[in-house]
Amino acid sequence: MARNKIALVGAGNIGGTLALLAGLKQLGDVVVFDIVDGMPQGKALDIAQAAPVEGFDAKMSGTNDYADLKDADVVIVTAGIARKPGMSRDDLIGINAKVMKSVGEGIKNNCPNAFVICITNPLDVMVGLLQKESGLPPEKVVGMAGVLDSARFRCFLAEEFNVSVEDVTAFVLGGHGDTMVPLVRYSTVAGIPVPDLIKMGWSTEAKIEEIVKRTRGGGGEIVALLKTGSAFYAPASSAISMAESYLLDKKRVLPCAAYCDNGTYGLDGLYVGVPVVIGEKGVERVVEIEMNADERAMFDNSVNAVKELNEALAGVLAAG
Ligand code: APR
Repeated sequence: MARNKIALVGAGNIGGTLALLAGLKQLGDVVVFDIVDGMPQGKALDIAQAAPVEGFDAKMSGTNDYADLKDADVVIVTAGIARKPGMSRDDLIGINAKVMKSVGEGIKNNCPNAFVICITNPLDVMVGLLQKESGLPPEKVVGMAGVLDSARFRCFLAEEFNVSVEDVTAFVLGGHGDTMVPLVRYSTVAGIPVPDLIKMGWSTEAKIEEIVKRTRGGGGEIVALLKTGSAFYAPASSAISMAESYLLDKKRVLPCAAYCDNGTYGLDGLYVGVPVVIGEKGVERVVEIEMNADERAMFDNSVNAVKELNEALAGVLAAG
């Protein structure tokens, strides 16, 4: 049986890490695309030379030609520019919108049956644009944000409770921005909800509130430390877990930027972060959870922020 083919569009910090992880996890052969001549080829060659040491047989290649994406099973898109200190994710909109147009066309022409995961920011609007430009059905195009945001939340909660990260589950809804909604009530340690853990004396409401705040600003904290770019290890791991769920038909329940239509979450055609089931068909189901009034208000606030960004995007596109 032929190996799966994984195409990575963008060979920067996240793209390189994605290639290494895809190799280590033996997800399939990897093609790395970038507009910079030599860079994807160099990274692919470097990782290919790690393969004998690590013991994986994936083929690694780099390219500047979209034709090499032909028949890819999964495409992960990180092409564009990343944040520098002082920039919000939204500042990237003009440049990255142009990039999504060319990437969408490359996908449409070469691998229209792929499952596409977008990472490029501002995520919730870029994934929508990529879906339109690629012409793929919405269930085959998702955005990676929630897995990363909830991984940050899990990491901080595990530290606070002094337990294994493996036993912490957490939930983050809404857009991938400062208005994201970490849902404390749906976050647990081995099934015990965080509010119960507070009652048990494991933490305090104030400390959990601090953690929620730190999660919301998790990306910015790393940008401020790195100074030359944004986070890349955890974003790459997060996208790989989504690709794995699709390729292995694991049907994992993961928070992703997914297309909500026909009144799901009260929405009528918008990409926003919600829990979904990812399996062989792509997004097989959007999981509509119950929210209390406070959670609903935070979610609506986040949805409004995404809608405003979409309006800004429409303005950029109309101006050419
Ligand atoms: N087509 C293909 N690749 C492109 C294009 C394009 N039109 N424009 C830029 N690129 C490439 C750049 O050459 C660079 O190698 O995209 C890559 C981006 O890599 P980095 O700058 O290292 O950024 P990275 O940290 O990988 O983040 C990429 O993900 O998290 C988001 O905000 C982040 O939007 C950013 C994206």
